Amino acid sequence: MADAVKTKWTREQVENLLKTEQLAYQKIELPYGLSTGGEDRSDTSDLIFDGDLNGKSVLDIGCYLGYFCHEAVRRGARKVVGVDANENRLRQARLLADCMGRPIEYKSLNIEEEEITGQFDVVILLNVLHHLRNPIGVLDKIIPHVNERLILELAGPSSPKADKLLKKMWASWWLRYRINKLPLIIVGRDMTVNRKGEQKFFFSPVAIKHILMEQRSSFARLDILSSGFKNRYVAVAWKRQVENLVIISGTTSSGKSTLIDRLMGGKIPEIAAEIGMRPDQEWRHLSPDPLKETKDVKLENVLYHYDILRPWNNDARIYQCEQGMDVLDCARERTVVTLWTDPKLMCERLEPEMQTAKHKSRQRRLADILAMYRSGEELARRYEYWADYCRGKNAKLLFIDCSDKPKMLTENQWRGKLEKLKHTEV
Ligand SMILES: C[S@@+](CC[C@H](N)C(=O)[O-])C[C@H]1O[C@@H](n2cnc3c(N)ncnc32)[C@H](O)[C@@H]1O
Repeated sequence: MADAVKTKWTREQVENLLKTEQLAYQKIELPYGLSTGGEDRSDTSDLIFDGDLNGKSVLDIGCYLGYFCHEAVRRGARKVVGVDANENRLRQARLLADCMGRPIEYKSLNIEEEEITGQFDVVILLNVLHHLRNPIGVLDKIIPHVNERLILELAGPSSPKADKLLKKMWASWWLRYRINKLPLIIVGRDMTVNRKGEQKFFFSPVAIKHILMEQRSSFARLDILSSGFKNRYVAVAWKRQVENLVIISGTTSSGKSTLIDRLMGGKIPEIAAEIGMRPDQEWRHLSPDPLKETKDVKLENVLYHYDILRPWNNDARIYQCEQGMDVLDCARERTVVTLWTDPKLMCERLEPEMQTAKHKSRQRRLADILAMYRSGEELARRYEYWADYCRGKNAKLLFIDCSDKPKMLTENQWRGKLEKLKHTEV
């Protein structure tokens, strides 16, 4: 293990700490062979920190007295931050870290209402999610701050408290037997207030898989492991790590595929150079659906095809809820290239497609898009919304006019075109 304990505390001081504070929650080893007492969580620690933590940064949300923070330092983590909403526990956690001479940073943070600052290689949220009022909202808040792994320890629907709840409600033995295989979230009554200790939620492993892997595209892999602690289980979600992402974005029929083919085929080297595609690099062409199928955790250079009208095609309505956009939070370098194509040209391309579309729903969708292209103002509003969203994600914004031979536009030139568009009807 990486760290050796360098305490400034005397044995008497440590004994006094143990006498005066209630610290027996998770068993933390202290100097002079003493310990806080409490639950032995070494099994969970071995399970979640099985890889190499050397040089990594770790954030423990709901850290209590900081057992897992100590474990992370002991296993070589470079930076460890523990956050909790309980000020008194944080005070005690600071005393324990000082006693052990470990450089753990403890911060007060209520994850339901406050923002996380910074990026972390590993984020752990153990036995917290099922106590929260808005657990899925909290997951969405956390995911952008994870670089490599998000680790959850959870109460599932087969845990004794959930099972008791189900029995009381006459759930059949078959349902109770199959429950972990079903995508279920059991909603408890939150009896924590009258000390019966029932969680607010019980997530089945399949429900967690659907939330993290099906409804979102941020993770390439999910491992479900049995934790051995109070019938809990551990979910380790491996975040996609894209080194260099270039999004080729535009409205439907704006010429994204053609531009990507020409970029990938080396046909427009001057444009490739402008958008940061060096000739010595290998680029992988992906779009939202194939990205989701990709199990590779690490991706080097990705050219990503994105239709900026997608949130209205799949009913997400906003980019924040559109899984095709989860890739932005997975990328270190982010460039968004937005294509400008004369709306008249896009209408000419779309009209025949609408005439021949087999399904009524597709015809209706194309008719809506055509109406938007013809009105100008709404189209300009969608472009502006897109650019604002990408800027908020710290992406570098570039613009290409694809109405004819592709040429770079400055942002001012692009904005000028949008202003004109607002007063134009096709
Ligand atoms: C059941 S304990 C789990 C402690 C530790 N993670 C473990 O697994 O042993 C839950 C911890 O989450 C903290 N917590 C609960 N709600 C929170 C919130 N909204 N924001 C931050 N911490 C919270 C509690 O104060 C408590 O320390």
